[in-house]
Amino acid sequence: MSDPRSRPGRTAGPETSGASLVGATVVLGVSGGIAAYKAVELCRRLVDAGSHVVPILTSSATRFVGEATFSALASEPARVEIFGGESPIPHTELGRRADLVLIAPATARVIGSYAAGISSDLLVATLLATRAPVLICPAMHSEMWEHPAVQDNVATLRGRGVYVLEPESGHLAGGDVGAGRLAEIAVIVAEASRILALTRGPRTSLPLSGRRVLVTAGGTREPIDPVRFLSNRSSGKQGHAVAAVAVELGATVTLVTTSALPAAVGVEVVEVETAAEMADAVLCRAASADLVVMAAAVADYRPGEVAATKLHKLDGAPLIHLVPTVDILAELGRRRRPGQVLVGFAAETDAVLERAAAKLEAKDVDLMVANDVAAEGVGFAHETNAVTIFHRGGSRTVVPLQSKRAVAHAVIDAVLPLLSGAELAWPPASRVEVPGAPQEASWTSPSPKGAATTENEEPDS
Ligand code: CTP
Repeated sequence: MSDPRSRPGRTAGPETSGASLVGATVVLGVSGGIAAYKAVELCRRLVDAGSHVVPILTSSATRFVGEATFSALASEPARVEIFGGESPIPHTELGRRADLVLIAPATARVIGSYAAGISSDLLVATLLATRAPVLICPAMHSEMWEHPAVQDNVATLRGRGVYVLEPESGHLAGGDVGAGRLAEIAVIVAEASRILALTRGPRTSLPLSGRRVLVTAGGTREPIDPVRFLSNRSSGKQGHAVAAVAVELGATVTLVTTSALPAAVGVEVVEVETAAEMADAVLCRAASADLVVMAAAVADYRPGEVAATKLHKLDGAPLIHLVPTVDILAELGRRRRPGQVLVGFAAETDAVLERAAAKLEAKDVDLMVANDVAAEGVGFAHETNAVTIFHRGGSRTVVPLQSKRAVAHAVIDAVLPLLSGAELAWPPASRVEVPGAPQEASWTSPSPKGAATTENEEPDS
């Protein structure tokens, strides 16, 4: 997945004044590294900021810092053991109560166990049992931090929506200097505050605050018989990234998806399989949506009849009669209510720009996001994408190859002025965006190397 919940840059996002920490239940996980002593200060700062802090220490952490210290400073006694306490299932109880699970320092072992799903102690069991956002703050020696196994585990966690606050460079244990030092406590507190503001509210200052966004993702599967289906290569990564960015920017997001990829915290997920199921799910929700992004690759045809039992080779090559599915986006275009913004995606292999421009007109949408899936690193299943966003009126924004998350940001960038009403009369021909210029004063695009450029050309025809 394209890094759906990794941080959109320190400067991005909502307030970090700490207001979101007030009243938040923070499970503070401390694992066994020399930086464990810094977690004492972190605990105190969080409590001072008004959070209800519940410390969990690994047994190695207790070799560096005492349980009693945390118990004295935190809102509840520190816990170490999974067994022996008041609750027979402390991990699920803590996991459910948490507004945020914050691991600082996170050692290679805890990161690895969490990534592998091995609940080796109360801390990892709690991580596996929670649906709250999780922020990990790794700290270890440079060699360990840079080891491919650790980096892979961190990437896996990021892909699952875990926030990672990368370690800083500086003095490490034993006199060494390098990358791996726990992030500054003030930075950790600010990041915890930012995540809580994103996931817990109030979220009135974000670009999509108060907006309802409906996103589709993945390729539909049209059954032939109980064991076979017609489908396409869409992975759902781009649509999931759009949903993740939209929720981070304050929207109430529903994701209608065929993909088993995890969705970002806070996104309502509706799982579907066929084009008909997707049509039902989308059309009944679209009326209340301010923005609909159809990133799904919806089958245009389905088998007219689905065999009740498995088709067998000995019966000869089957003749499968296909019938059309509903064109959901075109239907949305017909039903569109005033002010609603519709975005389509067009994955093409030839005449990309002409086809996308034609689809924008035919389906009566505001933006059509075109990509050439035959190009290197673009489209289905890749972690990266490169698109051209067609606007009504003929201008288009070229978004160069970059992560799907950054492409999702570029799409939302293009949507924001439409939602705010500034361009409801459609972009004037004079529209010009300066490459790399911030799109909104309140937040910063996280993709400095992949700045989008807008051209004011008529679409190719
Ligand atoms: N779409 C849809 N319902 C369908 C087919 C497509 O809502 N039955 C949407 C897709 O989600 C996408 C846009 O229409 O946002 C363009 O999809 P695409 O498959 O590129 O276009 P089609 O109209 O299906 O044309 P073709 O497959 O012939 O290129």
